[in-house]
Amino acid sequence: MDPYALPDITAGEDLEPIVLAQNEHAYPPSALVQQAVVDALGQGHLYPDSDCSELRATIAGVHRLNPANIVCGAGSMELMSTLMLAYLSSTDRILMTEYGYLFMRTLARLVGAGVDAALEPDYHVEVDRLIDALQPDTKLVFVVNPGNPCGSLLHNDEIRRLRDALPQDVLLLVDEAYAEFVDPQFHAPLFDLIERGNTVITRTFSKIYGLAGLRIGWGYFPDEIRDQVRKVQNPSSLSMLSQVAARAAMQDQDGVDEARGLIAAQRDFLTTEIERLGLPVVPSHSNFILVDFGSPQAAAAAFEFLRDHRLVVRPMGGYGLPACLRITIGTSDQMQLVARVLGDWRGQTGG
Ligand SMILES: Cc1ncc(COP(=O)(O)O)c(C=O)c1O
Repeated sequence: MDPYALPDITAGEDLEPIVLAQNEHAYPPSALVQQAVVDALGQGHLYPDSDCSELRATIAGVHRLNPANIVCGAGSMELMSTLMLAYLSSTDRILMTEYGYLFMRTLARLVGAGVDAALEPDYHVEVDRLIDALQPDTKLVFVVNPGNPCGSLLHNDEIRRLRDALPQDVLLLVDEAYAEFVDPQFHAPLFDLIERGNTVITRTFSKIYGLAGLRIGWGYFPDEIRDQVRKVQNPSSLSMLSQVAARAAMQDQDGVDEARGLIAAQRDFLTTEIERLGLPVVPSHSNFILVDFGSPQAAAAAFEFLRDHRLVVRPMGGYGLPACLRITIGTSDQMQLVARVLGDWRGQTGG
């Protein structure tokens, strides 16, 4: 099988790249988080707490959840992998959406499961299309909300309607990796949905919490799924330093609110600037935007032009969107540079 395709994040020759290709957070961990990690290093000779008890208690306190139903992993990718290993086999199928997270296709390959994908007209997930695409052997339905790479948002009522429509033995996995970027007025917590059974919601510390390099994800699991997943998961996958960093980051909810505002402001700025150049942008609720360059050739040319100016963004051919590029929202300086370079490119190509 092909490996999961990570982006090439090198810039032009001898250039230090500005990487806007992986939806990483624009800002490094806070001084408080960094200090917590430094302070914990002295315990580095000991194995980590495999139950992540303190981290789960902290997450539960902030989100008002039952800590017993929280499972932490080395990134939400590990939780997804573990779920697939625990639940899927070569006689099963997963159902995702047209532009759903590609890593799920890699995992399906790994366990030999088939993949069906419901179309996303106008870059939006439609629950009725998912329901229509269900097969008798569909074992797991996977929805990313807000979506990556489109950034569009599915209303939680629609996800509840999806759960209602699914047979009870079909597992629903809702990946909320980018949920914290959504303005809270548009997005209420969905965690209570696990009470319906056979539903898992995952989140991550890689995005708004700015800890992608430390590999920490978490999910809210019904008892019976938690028990199966914990059997399959590596018991020591989450390092002690990661647990400490995640606790400190989760405790700083003011920092999360501030980051959401900063990213939204830069997202609005870049969206306006790019639309001004006559390039359509999919309205995003997340820390990236999807830009339509009209043709695969134009997208490839813009990608190279940006790269020659240190800016590495994400080609979207792998997602079946070869005319688009996805740009991670970064700092104000970075976004001004992107706008300026794209403006120069449009000037040169006569767009
Ligand atoms: C939709 C989606 N889910 C999950 C992840 C992976 O998150 P983590 O770093 O927690 O493994 C990503 C990373 O880009 C993502 O885009």
